[in-house]
Amino acid sequence: MATALGFDVYGTLIDTHGVTSLLETLIGPDEAPRFSATWREKQLEYTFRRGLMRQYCKFGTCTRHALEFTALSLGHKLTTDQMESLIDQYARLPVFPDAIAGLETLQEYGYPLYAFSNGQTQAVDMVLKHASIRHYFKGIVSVDEVGTFKPDPAVYEHFCTVTESRAENAWLVSSNGFDVIGAIATGMKAAWIRRSSTQVLDPWEFPPTAILDSIATLSDVLGP
Ligand code: 2OP
Repeated sequence: MATALGFDVYGTLIDTHGVTSLLETLIGPDEAPRFSATWREKQLEYTFRRGLMRQYCKFGTCTRHALEFTALSLGHKLTTDQMESLIDQYARLPVFPDAIAGLETLQEYGYPLYAFSNGQTQAVDMVLKHASIRHYFKGIVSVDEVGTFKPDPAVYEHFCTVTESRAENAWLVSSNGFDVIGAIATGMKAAWIRRSSTQVLDPWEFPPTAILDSIATLSDVLGP
């Protein structure tokens, strides 16, 4: 059975802070990084809370609500058009350059590659196409098919079901520590992509199978 590789999308393949340059034009270069960081943190917090409350909604709704919260809490009055342009930007976020080299080699090696995301299939398809990396993936596995969010064990089990993998034969590749821990806890393997040495993993009892500073080196770990 071929080893299925599930790539987290937002924050791993795609840089969510790609909204920063648009934010700079809207609220200025000093405020933009904090706005972007708060927006992303709040977006994820909303997925965790909705998962716990069993009040699932589309990931795009979490993104929109988090944007509204961030603007209000940081005191920025954005117009409806400005808000919509930021939401539109989410479909045009940039790819991390190291992802392309990594995906290229892993595809050559014959691994079945999947995008595995909190995002809905259509949104993920759009952002991957815009970043010109959709063709590397055999498929998109979305938590939307389960109606909850990462790191609910049900979504990792769903990934294994869809890819016809046993957990011990399936890998998650993610920069998001909570995602890596979620996958390891269900028996999957997981590579934590730590692009910055300032990134810290939660000191829990679920260490990643591999820690890499770039997706480009994953093929060295997995081999042909
Ligand atoms: C994703 O599932 C966690 O946002 C991340 O794409």
